Amino acid sequence: MMTQDDLKRAVAQAAIEYVPVDSIVGVGTGSTANFFIDELAKIRHRIRGAVASSEASAQRLKGHGIEVLSLNDAGDLPVYVDGADEITRHLHMIKGGGGALTREKIVAAASKKFICVCDASKLVDVLGKFPLPVEVIPMARSSVARQLVKLGGQPKLREGFTTDNGNVILDVHGLQIMNPVELESTLDHIAGVVTNGLFARRAADVLLLGTAEGVKTITV
Ligand code: 5RP
Repeated sequence: MMTQDDLKRAVAQAAIEYVPVDSIVGVGTGSTANFFIDELAKIRHRIRGAVASSEASAQRLKGHGIEVLSLNDAGDLPVYVDGADEITRHLHMIKGGGGALTREKIVAAASKKFICVCDASKLVDVLGKFPLPVEVIPMARSSVARQLVKLGGQPKLREGFTTDNGNVILDVHGLQIMNPVELESTLDHIAGVVTNGLFARRAADVLLLGTAEGVKTITV
């Protein structure tokens, strides 16, 4: 029987096909992204380096002898590979379970193609069962939480967690997100919100979904 880790490894291997020779690769965060980093290590002589979306991924890349560049030095990237907490068939996602959503959104925005790597458990019809992470400037925590309640959510502070950018995360429970593009914009306009975990305006371009029957490639 294939374990969830087997499925993650399979999609990580499949994502290597999307990495151009001699490129600088955008690299995401999380357990599936970690499998991708391990696969990238096997072809490290064929790439110039990587831009990481978190300190944790940067450390893992460096541990494999892969050069890590800042996004400012790298410029635009051909490809960004990352996991998701939930994804729909429209390739809209909830991300930020690992708390790296802001840097993930920045690197994704600077990348030509977003390849999402997931095991089958992440595919959903409607986003929102997974609590939506919202990164917030610490002094705005309570005021942002009140706005989120007005929008129908139940925000909970992620206890004992500070982002790579020195901010806090509110995980918003109880949402059924029928229009992710609209909600992403609405949340971004609340004063004190740095980033929200909806990746809908810039959705993934390709989903590599790990299933018991093999890796499925889904595009919109
Ligand atoms: C981190 C993320 C990750 O992509 C997401 O949490 C998925 O992680 P995993 O591959 O471990 O399930 O958005 O901020």
